[in-house]
Amino acid sequence: MLRDDHTYQADLALVHDLGFGFHGDRCAPGIRDLLEPVRRRGGLVLELGCGSGSLTRHLLAAGHRVLATDGSPAMVARARAAVPAAQVRRLVLPEDPLPSVDAVVGVGNVLNYLRDESEVERALTAIAAALRPDGVLALDLVDRRWGEDPRHLAPMGRVRPSWAVFATSALPDPGLLVRDFTTFVRAEDGGWRRADERHEIRLLQGQRVADHLRAGGVEATVNPSFGAERLRAGMVAVIGRRTG
Ligand SMILES: C[S@@+](CC[C@H](N)C(=O)[O-])C[C@H]1O[C@@H](n2cnc3c(N)ncnc32)[C@H](O)[C@@H]1O
Repeated sequence: MLRDDHTYQADLALVHDLGFGFHGDRCAPGIRDLLEPVRRRGGLVLELGCGSGSLTRHLLAAGHRVLATDGSPAMVARARAAVPAAQVRRLVLPEDPLPSVDAVVGVGNVLNYLRDESEVERALTAIAAALRPDGVLALDLVDRRWGEDPRHLAPMGRVRPSWAVFATSALPDPGLLVRDFTTFVRAEDGGWRRADERHEIRLLQGQRVADHLRAGGVEATVNPSFGAERLRAGMVAVIGRRTG
């Protein structure tokens, strides 16, 4: 993702905020449990790819100190509006430095948005280095099995009174999912404003991600979920702890 050519421009960010916060809600209980030792010691949680704050609000409600970040300025603005008590900042992976923290979390597959394997590795190296001793990691990602389920490639559409979104998906190679989004949002004059975005989502190999984190000092495992929730087939939860 380029600094000025980011995904989730204003209208898709709005639609995501209004209609797609359920993933953060679903993952929150499991992540809260994983973060309990961090909460008890008053540690700082860095959230990557926070979007409009669907997980952030649960972390704050549980009593965490959270720095919520996202690469999209429109998402940063949405998160600030939706979770006013949160500290929210723009942070673009892999180029922006990460602060030193007691936990790194993220839901909604932020790592899959990076442009290639070397960007993913740079981000993982930075994440591992950002974690203080005993720091906790909890990130989801979309792995190669995503493309094996034909339902994931079916066209998607949702229509609400003030917005609509349509998406088509293609798998030009086993490691790349291309999703084309079209949104319609009610404009001030009562008409509909159209916007289009293409998302290139790299399908990662969970075990390689865990191995890279381990090389950076984080004991990480690939799991079917963070807790009792069910992730969609092809999504995994990478959970880890910095050992030294
Ligand atoms: C699918 S959304 C998930 C948002 C939110 N966590 C949720 O579950 O509702 C992915 C998020 O990753 C962000 N993102 C994509 N590429 C990024 C990058 N290189 N650095 C930081 N954030 C990025 C997007 O702006 C978007 O908000």
